[in-house]
Amino acid sequence: MMAAPIRLNVNGATRLVEAAPGSSLLSLLRDDLGLTGAHYGCGHGACGACYVLIDRRAVPACVTSVEHAAGKEIVTVEGLAQGDVLHPVQQAFLEEDAMQCGACTSGMVIATVALLEHTPHPDEDEIRAALAPHLCRCGIYGRVIRAVKRAAR
Ligand code: FES
Ligand code: FES
Repeated sequence: MMAAPIRLNVNGATRLVEAAPGSSLLSLLRDDLGLTGAHYGCGHGACGACYVLIDRRAVPACVTSVEHAAGKEIVTVEGLAQGDVLHPVQQAFLEEDAMQCGACTSGMVIATVALLEHTPHPDEDEIRAALAPHLCRCGIYGRVIRAVKRAAR
């Protein structure tokens, strides 16, 4: 049986959604709201592909329930740009060519936004720690680290 509608704040807009108890925020974002920027990788919180910001912290949406996200500020990668103007982190990733297949990119961008919000001038160890949950099968970690440093500047 479907539970009562849940009120979510996604990218600045209020969305009234229906979700089975315990269903994942990632499924709701992708399948019901059409926000496919957060990717499905492992489904177990172990690859970093699905990260979104919840109350300005980067979290894996695949293991976050819709109920847990209710009433909180959810920002997906789609919510970062202002119209045609990319977020500085997105711009830095573009300028450093810090993407290849793109599977990990939105998660890396979200993690970087959260990092710089709390640590505006991270050293390399702090960057590596923040990005540690994010796996890149294309192996472009060097370019990603350069992009984070560029965004911090
Ligand atoms: S799909 Fe969520 S961490 Fe891998
Ligand atoms: S760019 Fe392909 S997985 Fe990271």
